[in-house]
Amino acid sequence: MIIAVDGPTASGKGTIARALAAHFGLPHLDTGLLYRAVGVNAVRLGGDPDDADEALAGCAFDDALLADEHLRSETAGGLASRASRHPLVRAALLERQRAFAGQPGGAVLDGRDIGTVIAPEAEAKLYVTASVGARAARRFNEMRLRGENVTLEEIAADLASRDARDSQRAVAPLRPADDAFLLDTSDLTAGAAAAAAIAAVAARLSRR
Ligand code: DC
Repeated sequence: MIIAVDGPTASGKGTIARALAAHFGLPHLDTGLLYRAVGVNAVRLGGDPDDADEALAGCAFDDALLADEHLRSETAGGLASRASRHPLVRAALLERQRAFAGQPGGAVLDGRDIGTVIAPEAEAKLYVTASVGARAARRFNEMRLRGENVTLEEIAADLASRDARDSQRAVAPLRPADDAFLLDTSDLTAGAAAAAAIAAVAARLSRR
């Protein structure tokens, strides 16, 4: 059983994907982390993630980088969004994601194009959204807990530009799969959002 969870940044899709993985006993892959590693590695190699060749060089990252806390920062998210526009970067990460999805027992993957490109055959697809205001407020609280010095306005502006870049790119843009269940988490607590996602997936599976 493959569960695909897509949606914009700070929509709650990561928390939901982890809850689904725990509930259904499946391994989970946060695919955004792969793009974050590419962007950060490209910069460490002296490159610019806006340049296709230099972003592609970033794909040869050491897996130890995936555990680096820096990958969770806004900076790394922005680098990932820029690197992820290039078709060759997406192609370089494709097999790894497909192999994870194709594990015998199934898997949960979260990202932007899981239901549309990586695993269109997924048994259950969720598209998680939330208003920009709700997402900015969540991200702001997370950043403050981590001691990052940012304002709510900066975060809202960053989210809006990341949404635009992720949805308007030519290859695998952020969009709901036709058969995805839409879950708006703007007015839900993390626990309520996870419960709604589990119920939606269970309903999808019982109909098969
Ligand atoms: O989910 P995230 O915020 O960690 O993702 C960071 C960036 O990586 C996001 O802005 C776009 C890109 N990304 C992507 O293009 N495709 C995915 N499946 C996951 C992330």
